[in-house]
Amino acid sequence: MLTKDSLINSRLNLSYRDRDDLIHELSEKEREIAQYTWELWGRNNQLEPTREEWLAKDTTKKLIREWLANPMNEGKTFQDSWRTWLYLAGRGNGKTRSGAEWVRQRFEVGGVSRMALVAPTAADARDTMVEGESGILAHSPPWNMPSYISSKRRLEWPNGAIATMYSAEEANRLRGPQHEAAWCDELTSWGDQETWDMLLFGLRIGKCPQVMVTTTSKIGHKLLKAIIKDPYTITTHGHTFENAANLHPQFIEHIRKKYEGTRLGRQELEGKYIDEGVGVLWSEDVFQYLDQAPIMEKVIVAVDPAITSTAEGAETGIVVVGKDAEDNGYVLADHSGHYTPSGWAQKCIDLYKMYRANYIVAEVNNGGDMVIATIKNSDASVKTKKVVATRGKRTRAEPVSMLYEQGRVWHIGKFHKLEEQQIDFNPEDGESPDRVDALVWGMTELIINPIEIKIRYL
Ligand SMILES: Nc1ncnc2c1ncn2[C@@H]1O[C@H](COP(=O)(O)OP(=O)(O)OP(=O)(O)O)[C@@H](O)[C@H]1O
Ligand SMILES: [Mg+2]
Repeated sequence: MLTKDSLINSRLNLSYRDRDDLIHELSEKEREIAQYTWELWGRNNQLEPTREEWLAKDTTKKLIREWLANPMNEGKTFQDSWRTWLYLAGRGNGKTRSGAEWVRQRFEVGGVSRMALVAPTAADARDTMVEGESGILAHSPPWNMPSYISSKRRLEWPNGAIATMYSAEEANRLRGPQHEAAWCDELTSWGDQETWDMLLFGLRIGKCPQVMVTTTSKIGHKLLKAIIKDPYTITTHGHTFENAANLHPQFIEHIRKKYEGTRLGRQELEGKYIDEGVGVLWSEDVFQYLDQAPIMEKVIVAVDPAITSTAEGAETGIVVVGKDAEDNGYVLADHSGHYTPSGWAQKCIDLYKMYRANYIVAEVNNGGDMVIATIKNSDASVKTKKVVATRGKRTRAEPVSMLYEQGRVWHIGKFHKLEEQQIDFNPEDGESPDRVDALVWGMTELIINPIEIKIRYL
């Protein structure tokens, strides 16, 4: 059936009343056709930019001026269309749906017959672009339904048009095949930039080869930045909340809680590109203090053990953190320092008992199973959990810095050394501040992971 608020938010801009009138006036057959007419439902930014929009861009005007000024172009025609349509929007904004609809449009009325579909992995291409709830099969009309031939990794339309699926992990498969158009989903999760180069290289048949890129943004992503800057790119943005009527209310609630009022919210919600270097994680003014902690719902002792215990070596980060019932975080204590292995283990156990912590969370990248064994050797009854760093430092620390930005963390007293490390922390320079690491592990375990899990399972 026709979807929630789309006719109201689409280019038609109808009122609720007009929408209802319109739907009522349609015959059943017309209603079925209308259901598959994306122009009726897509919001302005989800629909392919018009030629007027392309020509109105400052960069396009510059291209035209340069083109006219070049005597070599005498007698030739200017390419008056974009090459890449970048739909850079917030999470859940409707990017994938928009891409799937564009593919249909290209095949149905755009005269295209060979197209590439590129996703971060082969499973993403299948599960999201083709078979997903926002994908091509779910939104193709019964009278022009493509067949999905999984063995050939492609879709075939009744008129013979073909869309071939590619994984960004296999740039080499794109070496050779030629396409008239391509849809690329979640480009900022592609591991390999070569895939993009290969794709463009093969995009050379048809009157006007074009690519649509639908993706969320990523700080400092070089390829994304290059695409934005390319004068042959036209970009549309969209906010997550624009699509609220079509998203689970709890998804909206979680994502609002996580990103609203943060710098990263510009990226994750608004779909804006943030350049690297703007990436300071903690500034002096984000710290808030209390003399006493309120009632804690959960307390954790977080430890990031150093490999050596020499005075010159790295410190062992030991931080006690807690959270209240509203998911606000509290730094209760910082006992980081130079310890022998049994020394830091004993310190953690003392703190665990003193703060009646739920468990000790320990990073085991440096010491493997020895880390937990060291704690258990001192006291086998304490509860522990090991964590392994697989994601980059920035990716780990960013959500925690956002909690501070949102005013959801309090320090119970001033922790000079920890705060100094937080302010100086630059994830890109390779230094590993131990106090910050312990803090990040603690807050991630307490607040970030539970929210992420809720979002994932909605
Ligand atoms: N204009 C629209 N009218 C009706 N439903 C829409 C519209 N745009 C998107 N949707 C629906 O909203 C939901 C989310 O859309 P979609 O999966 O395309 O978002 P996304 O931006 O790709 O999300 P993610 O960030 O998770 O990749 C889907 O059910 C999709 O069909
Ligand atoms: Mg998507």
